[in-house]
Amino acid sequence: METTLIILKPDAVQRGLMGQIIDRFERKGLQVVGARMMMVPEELARTHYAEHEGKPFFPGLIRFVTSSPVLLLAIRGINAVAVCRKLIGATNGGKAEPGTIRGDFGLSGGYNMIHGSDSAESAQRELALWFKPEELLDYKLDAEKWSYDPSDHP
Ligand code: RTP
Ligand code: MG
Repeated sequence: METTLIILKPDAVQRGLMGQIIDRFERKGLQVVGARMMMVPEELARTHYAEHEGKPFFPGLIRFVTSSPVLLLAIRGINAVAVCRKLIGATNGGKAEPGTIRGDFGLSGGYNMIHGSDSAESAQRELALWFKPEELLDYKLDAEKWSYDPSDHP
């Protein structure tokens, strides 16, 4: 089992897409184990996106993610990091495949509605950055026995 960090960015919240986006993860069989809305402090945005510091889009990215509330989600499942990235689609909504979240709901490169951790290591770093340990809930999803074949479990 893996847990990944998802952030519904200000455009997703403002456009009223939170429910539809969460639905994509739930209907896939993934489990929401943490959720919180917040205004992102600039320092936290800079730390989260530190790998992009110095790139031309960095100042605009920080302005964007700090401009209006975001919804943080921690999402758990087998291979959750890769599965969520696949559901999210390519960075630019105009190029993302239909059927993906970005491909279905957006056209923009920068305002692309959602963040998902890009590796197991990033997920661990980002979950620790955004959530307190006690905010990640350890509970059994009853429907899980119908989402996974017992042989799916590692
Ligand atoms: P994210 O980190 O938000 O999940 O997105 P990603 O992995 O698909 O894309 P990444 O390369 O990590 O870029 C981080 C975010 O920066 C904004 N961006 N704008 N205008 C541009 O050329 C540009 N490129 C990237 C997007 O908001 C992207 O999600
Ligand atoms: Mg990224």
